[in-house]
Amino acid sequence: MVGLALVIVLVAAGTGLWITWDDTQTSRASPAGRVADLAPPSTAAADTRPTTTMALAPPCRFGDDPVTTDPATDWATTIVDTRYRLPEDFVPPDLVPVTEAGFDSQDQVREVMIEDLGAMRAEAEAAGAPFVVVSGYRSFSYQAQLYLERVAQVGEEEANRRTARPGHSEHQLGTAIDVLDPQGADLTTAFADTPTGRWIADHAHEFGFVLSYPEGGIDRTCYDYEPWHLRYVGRDVAAEIHELGITPREWMAAQAARDQEG
Ligand code: DAL
Ligand code: ZN
Repeated sequence: MVGLALVIVLVAAGTGLWITWDDTQTSRASPAGRVADLAPPSTAAADTRPTTTMALAPPCRFGDDPVTTDPATDWATTIVDTRYRLPEDFVPPDLVPVTEAGFDSQDQVREVMIEDLGAMRAEAEAAGAPFVVVSGYRSFSYQAQLYLERVAQVGEEEANRRTARPGHSEHQLGTAIDVLDPQGADLTTAFADTPTGRWIADHAHEFGFVLSYPEGGIDRTCYDYEPWHLRYVGRDVAAEIHELGITPREWMAAQAARDQEG
């Protein structure tokens, strides 16, 4: 599996299959009506990934292109970022409350992940690293409200690094969750240094979850570091992403390149 992924990445590099990420494309509806690149990461020097993979990070751009795969069926491979947008009326078909995985909150997620989420909850608790779910599925309209609130708080530029515009949030997929330790008051990067944050970073992939926005990766993820934001991609894909040390977005782009190749 890992070997296959490496082949995907290297073949894509060799054949220029990143054309879907052509940076000459222009935005139709960026927040300020313009195309905007995000700043390169300040921690690039600490990145130890193979250079072949690093060079393949698709550029982060603002746009409103429709997602290129079916988010209902292709939940593990649908790229949702600053450019690719879910339809306003997309609602995952199988939402269930996280109480079905043993949590107290009323957040909802897709049923496809509920068994692995419950297994992760139990294992984390047994390891002395319990966590709670503080956000799951978000509708387009709720995300719009969150985004506008963020812009009002911190301005548009910082808001765009921290909160997705409506249609651009993985939370609308129903397969993204924000987690915290039970005493955690707020979503801050300090979570990464708690026992729960460390356990999540080390073990979430064993249950099919990956960090969408790892540290030092804004040029590859399009957002600031979020040690609390997990996306469910299934155990096989998560293991591959973890092993390769790449971001889910990079893995999904490689997958798209392979599909394009036929
Ligand atoms: N904080 C992430 C990027 C979101 O708003 O979905
Ligand atoms: Zn999140």
